Amino acid sequence: MTIKALFLKLSSDIELRTCYEVVNELGNGSSNRNPWKSKEIHRIFTFCEHGLTTNLVSNYFREFVRMKNEIVLDPFVGSGTVLIEASNFANICIGIDSNPWAIMVSKAKTTMPTIEEDDFLEMIETIEDYEPLIPSRRLRTYHTNGQIEWLGRIRNLIQDLSNDKILGLVVFGKLADNFSRLKQSPAPRFRKTSRYQRLNTIADEFKKKFLEAIHDIRGNNGNNTQTELILADSSTWIPTNFDGILTSPPFANNIDYIRHTQLYLLWSGIADSSSDLGKLRGFQIPACEAAARCLKNKSEKRWIIDKISVIDPKRSYQAFLLEYFYSMEKHFEFVEKSLNWEAWYTIGDSFFNSKYIPTHKLLKKLAEEIGLKTKLQTIGFRPGGRKLYLLKLIAN
Ligand SMILES: C[S@@+](CC[C@H](N)C(=O)[O-])C[C@H]1O[C@@H](n2cnc3c(N)ncnc32)[C@H](O)[C@@H]1O
Repeated sequence: MTIKALFLKLSSDIELRTCYEVVNELGNGSSNRNPWKSKEIHRIFTFCEHGLTTNLVSNYFREFVRMKNEIVLDPFVGSGTVLIEASNFANICIGIDSNPWAIMVSKAKTTMPTIEEDDFLEMIETIEDYEPLIPSRRLRTYHTNGQIEWLGRIRNLIQDLSNDKILGLVVFGKLADNFSRLKQSPAPRFRKTSRYQRLNTIADEFKKKFLEAIHDIRGNNGNNTQTELILADSSTWIPTNFDGILTSPPFANNIDYIRHTQLYLLWSGIADSSSDLGKLRGFQIPACEAAARCLKNKSEKRWIIDKISVIDPKRSYQAFLLEYFYSMEKHFEFVEKSLNWEAWYTIGDSFFNSKYIPTHKLLKKLAEEIGLKTKLQTIGFRPGGRKLYLLKLIAN
């Protein structure tokens, strides 16, 4: 499938607003400390820990409101933490991500469900009558025959959820994860043996989680905000008018978001093969070894090359780091042109074969060379004692 076909398929299948033309310019990407995991709405689906603490988010929006700002952008929106919190403080929230799964999760969390609870309960009562719908043959490697049959029935029922199909798929994603041979920590791996699970609980689990998700979204007050979600590559395009950014960009620490979300992309019908997944990886900021295989531009800045030359060249860390800094520089160039107030980025430490790379300092220098004023501070620690930083870019 061509990239164009992939994005068109996505837009027609799940009715998302896409930005194919923009993405096409490129031509050719769990931690138990996540404070959002147990919070209503956020808990529907969260990405791994990303440094956006509850304190940091509330500090940001206090300043945002004090400065009478209106439009907030998260150019790496992920599971939508910023968008959901923004809905109480901003008039317009814009989220961008190049991973369709992230856009689906954020869309599901910010869209009011329409289904009546009784209608849903009636549907799930008849689950045994549904034929299994298994969108990709590849899924058979993730599940036992029993698991895939039950999951396939629920997947088919989701087709009948009409307006709430995206929410159904997002809730289903987590379920498919739980009833699979995958182990999510730190990177997804196959277990040697399948966990014991009672298969007849799969439909009940889905029922419980779907109803909980509906309840969470309906209970959220911040509904007067206009939310826009755009599937795009933030190193090649961002909107031209916004006041502030609050975001956690991909950290340069070898996390492959496409790999982390491949099970969901396959079950949703967005990707069918490893080649589709590879194409999606090509739109990511290269921050992992797998991304280094995609054809991307590399930074040619001497001071960056010198800094990362301490890393063992046998692995492809140096290659993706040069691509990472190039892409982040392009992103900052867009920010410099359009930012009205401040952009806050959480940045994680980077270690490769125990060699430390001060990513936060390199990003700061890149932004300054582009002409942005910056402030850098340490804001805490990540699992394993690694540090977290906040880089503020300030409009001129
Ligand atoms: C650290 S996560 C963001 C987590 C997010 N704060 C949340 O609430 O879940 C980084 C995100 O950046 C996205 N991303 C990577 N490269 C991108 C690109 N070129 N353009 C837009 N988004 C990208 C990834 O798909 C991932 O969702």
